[in-house]
Amino acid sequence: MVQQREAMSWLPAYKQGAAAGDSGAFKLSSNENPFPPLASVIDAIASTLGDIQLYPSMAVAEVTDRIAARFDVDASNVAFGAGSVEVLSQIIHASAGAGDEVIFAWRSFEAYPILIQVAGATPVPIALTADERHDLDAMASAITAKTRLILVCNPNNPTGAFVTTDELHAFLARVPATVLVVIDEAYVHFNRDPSSAVGIDFFHRYPNVAVLHTFSKAYGLAGLRIGYAVAPTAVATNLRRVALPFGVTALAQRAALASLDAEAELTLRIDEIVIERTRVLAALRASGWRVADSQGNFVWLRTDVDTDRVNAVFIRDGILARAFPGEGLRVTIGTAEQNNRFLAAAAAALEPTAV
Ligand SMILES: Cc1ncc(COP(=O)(O)O)c(C=O)c1O
Repeated sequence: MVQQREAMSWLPAYKQGAAAGDSGAFKLSSNENPFPPLASVIDAIASTLGDIQLYPSMAVAEVTDRIAARFDVDASNVAFGAGSVEVLSQIIHASAGAGDEVIFAWRSFEAYPILIQVAGATPVPIALTADERHDLDAMASAITAKTRLILVCNPNNPTGAFVTTDELHAFLARVPATVLVVIDEAYVHFNRDPSSAVGIDFFHRYPNVAVLHTFSKAYGLAGLRIGYAVAPTAVATNLRRVALPFGVTALAQRAALASLDAEAELTLRIDEIVIERTRVLAALRASGWRVADSQGNFVWLRTDVDTDRVNAVFIRDGILARAFPGEGLRVTIGTAEQNNRFLAAAAAALEPTAV
């Protein structure tokens, strides 16, 4: 038999949220944007189709300049990938290998432990606090001479909890300057709490902080795959070294530029999602659910051992959520119609006669 790396025998595969197919169910399992692409974004993509025989700009030059100007950083600080998950993979590969440790909160984004192990490094998951937040104290205490990288997901997927500015400063005071701290802000546009840490401010203040952003969520470009890091120049240079060559297509680059041009229009949509999130949380509480606030485009139901049963009710009632058996269910905020169906399913799951 062909020899493969031993790690492949136990590495879990990343699981995509269940597809609705033609079942009529609503797929609220992948934190996707419920709105269709803007007409201007479709036009921009269409205008690029005639050039797809050509390789894209590997430097992602135009989008880099726009992002650098926006955050008042140098172009050398910006590195792109095919989605922020690819940039995360670049960061892990550039920072940690065999024998090195990567600290992250758990539960958090499922890709973290997988990508860390693919790189041959050792995952060091640190349990969330009882109120679903990063336990930054425990994360700082877990730092050893082997720690190379720390991931902070703000707001956290799947719990929606955020890290405050004060907490992050206190945490960084305990992190050696040789250890890179990545603030994963995939959901930053939905985060409306003024006490939340803002990654770019920390990047400007600390030489060992990088920030991850994506066009997948708030900008609605999940299908095109484009995300980036703002990182210290030496780190960003290494990200370009380990990046898949030509990983970010010209279509994705044009769509990102068109999205940046259409920000006012996109902001209205993001605001609508945030308004729906507030409505959904209030309705869940009114129907008897105990649910924590969320600063993401999703809500988190801590169903513990009841997760499979509640998920069965959701599936029966046409809601595809992301279930973490034994822990809870993450449900993406969708359109008002989708959210109403979810709320009805959530209320039904509380009834004693439910499945
Ligand atoms: C916390 C977090 N980071 C990064 C990503 C990756 O998103 P993308 O690769 O589409 O940019 C996700 C996607 O779900 C996420 O939840």
